[in-house]
Amino acid sequence: MWRYEKRLQHPVNITTPNPQLAQFIASQYGGPDGEIAASMRYLSQRYAMPYDIGKAVLTDVGTEELAHMEMIASIIHQLTKGLTAEQIAASGLGPYYIDHTNGIWPQAAGGIPFNACEFQSKGDPITDLFEDLAAEQKARSTYDNILRVVTDPEVCDPIRFLREREIVHFQRFGEALRAVQDHLDSRNFYALNPAFDNPAKTAAAAAGSCDCSVCGG
Ligand SMILES: [Fe+2]
Repeated sequence: MWRYEKRLQHPVNITTPNPQLAQFIASQYGGPDGEIAASMRYLSQRYAMPYDIGKAVLTDVGTEELAHMEMIASIIHQLTKGLTAEQIAASGLGPYYIDHTNGIWPQAAGGIPFNACEFQSKGDPITDLFEDLAAEQKARSTYDNILRVVTDPEVCDPIRFLREREIVHFQRFGEALRAVQDHLDSRNFYALNPAFDNPAKTAAAAAGSCDCSVCGG
């Protein structure tokens, strides 16, 4: 359950519209490494996580990504507000305008619609956490790319804030991965799924006496 606060996590106050920038930044709304994918990924993965620390990190970060989705939507909205159809068409955002006018719709910078295949929920905490670590770095790289082409300080400010949060999330997922690995036998860090495999089999694998096809005896 969530309680909605009527404010953004970090303020967005853009006074100069720029539809071309809106097209670039839209990728962090519905693109492959964007905030929708991040929030859906973590809030879905949390259920298979067998350890409380992992569940807490996935829920915290997934919730924060929803707030980031809201910030990105606000940036896109403010960058396109009040423009004429001619200004939008001249900026390269014309195809988006034809389908969505000035509405917010999840797609990548190249126009590819958001798709749940952008993320996984594998039901294996180690697999999922490695994906989460990579996702945070990919999101940071995208923000770096955006910052290379944005000069307006009113746009740079919230983008820099979001970029810093990706670095914090990477650190937190690293801590969660360490905690999950601490529950596993050191010789079988990646051979078993701690969320699914039989605990007795996991113990046997730890003792080196499991003869299943996964452990190999
Ligand atoms: Fe993140």
